[in-house]
Amino acid sequence: MHICNYSLLFIPNFLRIPNICCTFAPKLRNSTTMRSIIITGGAGFIGSHVVRLFVNKYPEYRIINVDKLTYAGNLANLRDIEDKPNYRFVKADICDFDTIYRLMQEEQVTGIIHLAAESHVDRSIKDPFTFARTNVMGTLSMLQAAKLYWETLPEKYEGKRFYHISTDEVYGALEMTHPDGIEPPFTTKASSGSQHLAYGDKFFTEDLKYQPHSPYSASKASSDHFVRAFHDTYGLPTIVTNCSNNYGPYQFPEKLIPLFINNIRHRRALPVYGQGLNVRDWLYVEDHARAIDLIFHKGTVAETYNIGGFNEWKNIDIVKVLIRTTDRLLGRKEDEDMNLITYVTDRAGHDMRYAIDSRKLQRELGWEPTLQFEEGIEKTVRWYLDNQAWMDNITSGDYEKYYEEMYRNR
Ligand SMILES: NC(=O)c1ccc[n+]([C@@H]2O[C@H](COP(=O)([O-])OP(=O)(O)OC[C@H]3O[C@@H](n4cnc5c(N)ncnc54)[C@H](O)[C@@H]3O)[C@@H](O)[C@H]2O)c1
Repeated sequence: MHICNYSLLFIPNFLRIPNICCTFAPKLRNSTTMRSIIITGGAGFIGSHVVRLFVNKYPEYRIINVDKLTYAGNLANLRDIEDKPNYRFVKADICDFDTIYRLMQEEQVTGIIHLAAESHVDRSIKDPFTFARTNVMGTLSMLQAAKLYWETLPEKYEGKRFYHISTDEVYGALEMTHPDGIEPPFTTKASSGSQHLAYGDKFFTEDLKYQPHSPYSASKASSDHFVRAFHDTYGLPTIVTNCSNNYGPYQFPEKLIPLFINNIRHRRALPVYGQGLNVRDWLYVEDHARAIDLIFHKGTVAETYNIGGFNEWKNIDIVKVLIRTTDRLLGRKEDEDMNLITYVTDRAGHDMRYAIDSRKLQRELGWEPTLQFEEGIEKTVRWYLDNQAWMDNITSGDYEKYYEEMYRNR
């Protein structure tokens, strides 16, 4: 049964568990000494960093990466750990309830870290159905499978955890009340050394009302509500985190940073939306993975934590940093490629400013980002330049067609 067939007629079929139980007897494993964790979306950008961290840091855990391998999923992101004995990859759709339920039984799963999603706002504007399917119905399928499987166990929810990874975009847009920037109210090691500014007085805090604007953020908001509803209704031990923009190695090159590094390298135009004034908070992806590790183990059930970089940037300023860094690393003249900047029609409904206040996480669990922004950007640019084969492999196929469709005639 596939939960994402749009007909609600399928939903009562969740109750067909006895069949599933008979057909798939769980393998014997000493579950008291081993944690068995499903990480969904582990072949994607953030998921691959989370899988790598868990596989390397916890050899006593069993890590099962469940990924459908959409255009955004790439097993090459995990070459270095694919042969580890505590790692298993399962190609599956999170909407496929039967398969997910069987897998949970077979692997005696005790924890879920749910990252699988459609994640690109521009794609959600063109095709909102796919986002509702994967992000809403897929999350519901994961929740229902976890609930039903864990309820069959004598200890039920004891020692279990369903951790849902979400985005700060669910909070909607903040106003840019200080277009030239002011001194921010908080700072960490990760904040930029040269340009540490806040562009408004307000920040996203965990108690803020959800006001999503794009089909992507609406689908993530909906999935967050389902996760909390499963806690409030059934007692499922859930946690939700909402994170700001991530950057770093292995990001699919439709997103700003890898897209622009690759374009600068090939001296292709850099399509900047509107005037490039939109503000985002940026966090190095490994710092996000570290936060996920900490929250999965030490976070309080039913809580929400915001994760951010304390690091606001206007898009146009990020683009200039990328040009300078890439040109320097390629041995080109300073600012030689500034003329690649091309302003294109703004994204529909483009949120002006996102800025995360993640002091709750700092206060309660002691997490802070570690990598200072300029260091992180340099590390990232260097990685993409050093891994051209990875990039070429991705950009050679359908991606080129998609790129033409998105940016032609804008
Ligand atoms: N990238 C960011 O800056 C950012 C920031 C905050 C939160 N998030 C959230 O983090 C999560 C991961 O984001 P990302 O940037 O790594 O995304 P990504 O697009 O790089 O990866 C998504 C992964 O999910 C897989 N997937 C998609 N649909 C699936 C399905 N139906 N079944 C199984 N697997 C499926 C894809 O194959 C891919 O491997 C998402 O939930 C996203 O909303 C991302």
